Amino acid sequence: MTPNKPLWSGRIEGGLAPEAWEFLHSLPHDRFLWPYDIDGTVAHVKALTSAALLSKTEGTKLTRELRAMKDHPELVDDADEDVHSAIERVLTERLGDVGAKVHTGRSRNDQVATAMRLWTKEQLTAARTAVASLVSVLADRATEHADTLAPGYTHMQRAQPIALGHWLCAHAWSFVRDIERFDLALANTDVSPLGAGALATSTFDIDPQVAAAELGFVRTFDNSMDAVSDRDFLVDGSDACTMALTHLSRLAEEIVLWSTTEFAFVVLPDAYATGSSMMPQKRNPDVAEVARGAPGIALGALTGLVTTLKGLPLAYDRDLQLDKQHVRDVFGTTIGAFRAMAGLVAGLTFDTERLASAASDPSLLATDEAERLVREGVPFRKAHEQVAGRIDELQAAGRPRNMPGGPSAKSIRAQVRRLRKIVQT
Ligand code: ARG
Repeated sequence: MTPNKPLWSGRIEGGLAPEAWEFLHSLPHDRFLWPYDIDGTVAHVKALTSAALLSKTEGTKLTRELRAMKDHPELVDDADEDVHSAIERVLTERLGDVGAKVHTGRSRNDQVATAMRLWTKEQLTAARTAVASLVSVLADRATEHADTLAPGYTHMQRAQPIALGHWLCAHAWSFVRDIERFDLALANTDVSPLGAGALATSTFDIDPQVAAAELGFVRTFDNSMDAVSDRDFLVDGSDACTMALTHLSRLAEEIVLWSTTEFAFVVLPDAYATGSSMMPQKRNPDVAEVARGAPGIALGALTGLVTTLKGLPLAYDRDLQLDKQHVRDVFGTTIGAFRAMAGLVAGLTFDTERLASAASDPSLLATDEAERLVREGVPFRKAHEQVAGRIDELQAAGRPRNMPGGPSAKSIRAQVRRLRKIVQT
C-alpha cells in the first residue's frame, strides 16, 4: 500500500521505508478516536475563529463539514498515517484551502491528548455507572436478606454467624471505594490540553478557554509541556478499573464457590448460567469466572502503560502513541463485567435453609460464649481456652450483635440507606 502524503512531508525527502511506515502508522489503533477528534477539531475551529485567525464564514464552513463527517468514520483510508491526518485530509479534499487552515496553532500532540481525554471521560463515566448499578443491586438484595442467617468465614473456615445482608453490603462497600477512585480519575481527566501545541503553545493569540468550554472540560492546562506528555489520567483510569475488577473477582469467586454442589448456597439464574457441550448435568458459572479473570486485562494495561511512561523525557515522545493499545480494552471489559455481574446478582436464588443450617453450627457460637464469660469477669484469653474445650456442647442460642457496622438487621438497614445515598448522587 502506498501511504497517503504525511502531514510532515515538507522537509523530509521521499517516503518512509515500508516497514517503518507499517510499524509507525497508528490508524489501526486510533481510528476509534474519529468522533472525539472531530469534536476536538470543531472546538479548535471555534478558538481560531474567536482569535480572528479564521473568518466567521470559514469557521462555519469547517464546522458544518466536520459535523457532517462525524457519523462517517469509514472516511478514513487505510493509507492514512493516523486518525488526525485522516480528518485533515478529508477536510482539505472537501474544502480546499479552508480545510488546510484547520491545523493553525495546533499540533497532533495537543490534538491526540484532547481526543484521548474526551474518550476517557466518557469511558470513566460509563464504568462508574456500571459499578454504581451493582451497588444498587447489592443494596436491594441486602434489604431482602437483612434477617437471613448465613455463616461468615475467615480462612475459608466457618467463623461466626452473620446475616446474609451483611455479606452483600460488605462487597458493596468495596465498590463504593472504586466509585471514589473513578471520580478522582474523572477529575484528573477533565483538563483540556488544546492550545498547548507541540509543546510550547503557538505565536498566535489563541485562548485555550474557548476550546475547553466548547468541549465541556472544567479547566485548561497549567503547563503546555506537561499537557502534551501527561497520560496520568489513563494510569488513574486503569488503576480504578484494576481495583474495581479485583473487588469484583472476590465476589465472583464466592459465587463460583457457593454455586457448587458442595456449598449449594446459591442457584445461578438461568440467563446467567451456561451448560456443557458434553456433560448434561453442568450449570456453569462462566459469567462469574470471566469476571474473576478480568483484572488481568486491567492490570496488564496499568503495568504496560506505566512501563511505557517510565523514563520518558519531556515533552511529547512517539512512545506515547502506544497508550491506546494499552488501555483500549480496559474500560469495555470493566463495564461489561459489572453489567453482567449486576444482572447475575439480581437473579441469584439464595438457599436460605442451607445458609441457616450452616450458620447454626454450634461451634460458630464459640466467640459469643467466650464473650459471655468475659461479661462474667473471666479474662478473654482464659474464656477462649475454656470454650475451645467444650465446642461440642454449645447450643444454638444466638446472641444479638448490635454494634454499628455489624451484622444485625438494624445495621444492615442503616448500611443500605447510606449505600443508596452514595449511588444516587
Ligand atoms: N499518532 C500519534 C499519537 O497517537 C499522533 C501524534 C503524532 N505526533 C507527532 N509529533 N508525531 O500519539
